[in-house]
Amino acid sequence: AEVALRSGSARPMPAVGMGTASPTPVPQEDTKGAVLAAIEAGYRHLDTALMYGTERPLGEAVAEAARRGLVASREELFVTSKLWCTQCHPDLVLPALRQTLQNMQMEYVDLYLIHWPVCTKPGPITWPARREDAVPFDFEGVWRAMEECHRLGLARAIGVSNFTTKHLDRVLAAATIPPAVNQVELNPVWQQRTLREYCAERGIHVAAYSPLGGQDWSGSGEGNAVLESEVLAEIAKARGKTVAQVSLRWIHEQGVTWIVKSYNKERLKQNIDVFGWELTDEDRLKISQIPQKKCVTAAALFSPEGEFTSVDLSDMDIV
Ligand code: A2P
Repeated sequence: AEVALRSGSARPMPAVGMGTASPTPVPQEDTKGAVLAAIEAGYRHLDTALMYGTERPLGEAVAEAARRGLVASREELFVTSKLWCTQCHPDLVLPALRQTLQNMQMEYVDLYLIHWPVCTKPGPITWPARREDAVPFDFEGVWRAMEECHRLGLARAIGVSNFTTKHLDRVLAAATIPPAVNQVELNPVWQQRTLREYCAERGIHVAAYSPLGGQDWSGSGEGNAVLESEVLAEIAKARGKTVAQVSLRWIHEQGVTWIVKSYNKERLKQNIDVFGWELTDEDRLKISQIPQKKCVTAAALFSPEGEFTSVDLSDMDIV
């Protein structure tokens, strides 16, 4: 299953993708091994970002997969990477993408995303982004630079991540090539209905990250609202599936593609095994009534002040 993207030269985005983000550093060899295992299990979309520090091992895994004949060539894979907050300056976008391509030893990415609607002063790549370094985001200038990356053939499609409707309004007003994708936190506990409607009306494909509720990015130690959902557990039991599979299946049925991080072979296989069955109308109704809760709380990580110098969560969907 795949979804066509609007950028002309882009390969369609596979319905399932593998993520490589971890809140704590992971040895490069582990990432390489997990990406190879994912390709072997049938994943064709691989997601990374400069900030994750996984571009290099991901690129090595892709090269090795081609050598081993797991894929005929890199062309069979859909690779996404992202521009970090420190690089959201018009003159730093192209060098950032060149660095990313150098890290991965690739000639192009299938999709290049602005990682957050947050711009910080140029400097070291840190997580969280340095709140004291936030500066106004030049959406027009940065988007023009993204368009240039596309024109040069270095990014087959360009898009954004963590953008609300307000941020998208700003980009669309400036765009000659509109964003093909908005990659956001999306799962049964954070369904993003308003944002999805907005994107559907404008031909922007929505991709889900944290489809299983996400990892503990802020170190809060709070439980996982998706994996611990009683509603999902009941449905999973009735369908003979895992909670993860119910969540992923629900996302797929919404027309949303997703990326999930697993470095575990069994879970990698489990997560791609979500086809050939459907949720019932009753399941869908129950899921639509799950109380909503955002897990990746950007507000905790960036200054809440300032209209566009920070992540503006005021229009985030809570329906
Ligand atoms: P692991 O790598 O040990 O499988 P993200 O939201 O960033 O995609 O992360 C998903 C998180 O959920 C990871 O910590 C991953 O850990 C875990 N995970 C992935 N697949 C499953 C699954 N099928 N069941 C339970 N946990 C999962």
